[in-house]
Amino acid sequence: MTIEQKLAEFQHSFNQDLLRLTEQLDNKHSVPLKQAMQYSLTNGGKRLRPFLMYLVGEALEVDIKLLQPAAFALECIHSYSLVHDDLPAMDDDDLRRGKPTCHIQFDEATAILAGDALQALAFELIADAEVSSDVKVSWMKDLSHFAGYHGMCSGQALDLAAEDHKANLAELEQIHLHKTAALLRCAVRMACAAKPDLAPEYLTKIDLFASRLGLAFQIQDDVLDVISSTELLGKPQGSDEKLNKSTYPGLLGLAGAKDKTEQVYQSALEQIQDLPYNIELLSLLAQYIVKRQH
Ligand code: IPE
Ligand code: IPE
Ligand code: MG
Ligand code: MG
Ligand code: MG
Repeated sequence: MTIEQKLAEFQHSFNQDLLRLTEQLDNKHSVPLKQAMQYSLTNGGKRLRPFLMYLVGEALEVDIKLLQPAAFALECIHSYSLVHDDLPAMDDDDLRRGKPTCHIQFDEATAILAGDALQALAFELIADAEVSSDVKVSWMKDLSHFAGYHGMCSGQALDLAAEDHKANLAELEQIHLHKTAALLRCAVRMACAAKPDLAPEYLTKIDLFASRLGLAFQIQDDVLDVISSTELLGKPQGSDEKLNKSTYPGLLGLAGAKDKTEQVYQSALEQIQDLPYNIELLSLLAQYIVKRQH
C-alpha cells in the first residue's frame, strides 16, 4: 500500500469518527454554534496532524486506539486555527477546503465562537479519554503549550506583524516554526506521551523531526500559494501576495524556496534515521508533505 492509499484510508475512517463525535453534541444549547463547529471540523482537510500522530504511535508500538482522543483534540485545535486564520481581522479569506469559510457560511461572531468552542472541546475530549491521568496531563500540557503563547497563537501574531515588511530569514523561520511546526510537534509529542518509557534522547529526535517537517510543510504551503490554483488548493491562491505576507518565495524566490524545502526535509529525515524503530512510514509521510500539490 502506498502512503497516499494509507492516508486516504485513514482520512475515511477519521472523518467518519469526527462526524460521529460532532453528532454526539446535544442540541440543548446554541444549535447554530454547533453547526458552525461541525462545518469547520468535518469539511474535509488532509488530516495530516492526526495521521502523523498515529504513524509515530505505530512506530513506537503504542496501542494507537488509545491515541484517538488526542488525535481528535489536535484536529479540533487545527480546525479552530483555520477558522480564525480566515477571519477578516486575519487573512480575510472566503474559501477553505473548497467551501465558503466559516464566517462567510455563518457570520463573523459565530466563526469566532466556533473557534473558541472547538478549542474548549479539545480539552474536554482529553479530560474524558480512557488513559491514565499522567498521560492526560501530558496531553493537556502539550496542547496548551503548542497551541497557545509558546506556539501557534504567537506564530499567527508574528505572521500578522510581518505583513507589509519583509521579515528576514531568521524571523521568517520563527514565524513558521510557531504558526505551523508547533502543532506538528504537538502531534508527535502526544504520541510519545503514550509511551512513558521512551528514552528522552529519542523523544528529542522525534520532536526535532516534527519541527523540521513543520517548517518544510509551511514553506511548501507558501510555494503552493504562488504556483497552485484556487481549485486545487480549495483556498484562494495568491492570498499571501494580496496581503503582502512575509513568505519564503517572497524572500528567496520560488527556486530558492523550493531548495529550502528540500534542505529542511532532508534535515528532518536525518533526525530519525538512527532510531531503533521502523520509521519507513514516517519518512514516506515526510516526503508526501513536501511533495504535495495541495
Ligand atoms: C493549512 O494546514 C494551514 C497551515 C498550517 C499551512 P493544512 O494544509 O494541513 O490544512 P487542511 O487541514 O489540510 O485543510
Ligand atoms: C496558517 O498559515 C497557519 C495557521 C492556521 C495556524 P496560512 O495562513 O498560510 O494558512 P492557509 O494558507 O490560510 O491555509
Ligand atoms: Mg495566516
Ligand atoms: Mg491563511
Ligand atoms: Mg498559506
